[in-house]
Amino acid sequence: MKYDLIIKGGILVNPLDSGADVVADVGIRRGKIACLAGDLAPSQGEDVYDAAGLYVLPGIIDAHVHFRDPGLTHKEDFASGSAAAAYGGLTMVADMPNTVPATAGVRDFREKAGIAGGKSYIDFGLFAAMTGDNVGELEGLAGEGVLGFKVFLGSSVGGLAAPGPGSLLEGMGKTGSLGLRIAFHAEDNELNGYFTGICRAAGADDPALLAGARPAVSEAASIARVLLFSEYTGTPVHICHVSSKLGVDLIRRAKGRGIPVSAETCPQYLFLDEGDYRRLGTRMKVYPPIRGAEDREALWRGLGDGAIDMIATDHAPHTAEEKDRSLWEALSGIMGVETSVPLLLTAVNQGRLSLNDYARLASAAPARIWGLYPQKGSFALNTDADFTIVDMNRAGVIRNGDLHSKNNSSPFEGFRTLGSPRAAIVRGRIVMKDGVLLGNAGYGRLVRPAPPAGRVDPAGRRPLVDPAAHT
Ligand code: DOR
Ligand code: ZN
Ligand code: ZN
Repeated sequence: MKYDLIIKGGILVNPLDSGADVVADVGIRRGKIACLAGDLAPSQGEDVYDAAGLYVLPGIIDAHVHFRDPGLTHKEDFASGSAAAAYGGLTMVADMPNTVPATAGVRDFREKAGIAGGKSYIDFGLFAAMTGDNVGELEGLAGEGVLGFKVFLGSSVGGLAAPGPGSLLEGMGKTGSLGLRIAFHAEDNELNGYFTGICRAAGADDPALLAGARPAVSEAASIARVLLFSEYTGTPVHICHVSSKLGVDLIRRAKGRGIPVSAETCPQYLFLDEGDYRRLGTRMKVYPPIRGAEDREALWRGLGDGAIDMIATDHAPHTAEEKDRSLWEALSGIMGVETSVPLLLTAVNQGRLSLNDYARLASAAPARIWGLYPQKGSFALNTDADFTIVDMNRAGVIRNGDLHSKNNSSPFEGFRTLGSPRAAIVRGRIVMKDGVLLGNAGYGRLVRPAPPAGRVDPAGRRPLVDPAAHT
């Protein structure tokens, strides 16, 4: 058989089983994995990627980015964001809806899909917002191929209003029946407002106050409500960017009780803690805030024992001016698509997790949770030939001047890394190789979740009141 591309001699990293890594060649035809074999002899004219000595992971997915397109393109746009992601070794991202306009209706969704489809270097999925007043749009959005819905329970950048408890419960019921999952920015607005007021009134400008202004109990109180509503409606929920030990512990217990919850955390919560605020100031301002070393260690434990399912970045760029303001005026958000893979590979080299764990946490798990598996996140034959190829021995130093977003103010500036992405392959095409972007803007495609049949578990779902049944 003739292939379009052969990846030769790499070690395939099984995301599900640490005992099952193999040295094998991958034959790719028409963007799909056509063959895995011990030794594929290239016939004439076939492209060959020499992966000897390198590890081949299923394409790394970042299921939480803010590419700011449309409307906030002075911060980032889909071309710059997806290019930076490709440089960082990613093959797919999922974009959040707090753009301008917000992705809240079918028209917004189509507009963003068109923009991203024209500009993206890598594949992408799209989330839509669920606010108090778009319950009527949810079904249409599901039909368009939305990955899931996003609810901002804590006010954040973009000002998407939190639904009240009633419309939240109604929207959750609806989402469950559509077979989709809801992602939550889980913080409690009242608690945040109360304690932010106290901190601001004190007039101090120590950035470590950020963690007290939006305390761990605020995240946990919000997660607790989400878990209760999930138990009640049976609707799968996902907790974004878990930042606290209290939060991880709640999620772990809920999983033990069979509540359909998944969770993610991000490099900023795994590699930074309160002790870094003095050095980094507002560069590490993010909501929810970065907390103490105890929280950081609890998140690592959560990754180890399955309480936390995945790693995403919450890539949320702002301009230098927006980040350099005073403590309370600076915008919150940390960039991450280009630094996540090297940071996590460094953690693998340090023995904090295995490479298989990483492939699961950053590829197979996001694909599963958002309904894309095995099309994404696996080595299954006939699925998308997406790969992240990494060199575990290559050392580097993160430098803002080397990054490719529109605004580069990473708090990881100066971090020494060991382990580096050498190539990102998307549907059989090498879009990044050895630090050179080879793909083109507009190659990336919208990825829709598989039809929800089989992903809904109606067990435990309690019907919400239906007045029509009482007339
Ligand atoms: O700090 C944050 N920034 N948290 C969010 O939830 C949103 C994000 C952004 O979009 O800038
Ligand atoms: Zn958020
Ligand atoms: Zn976010």
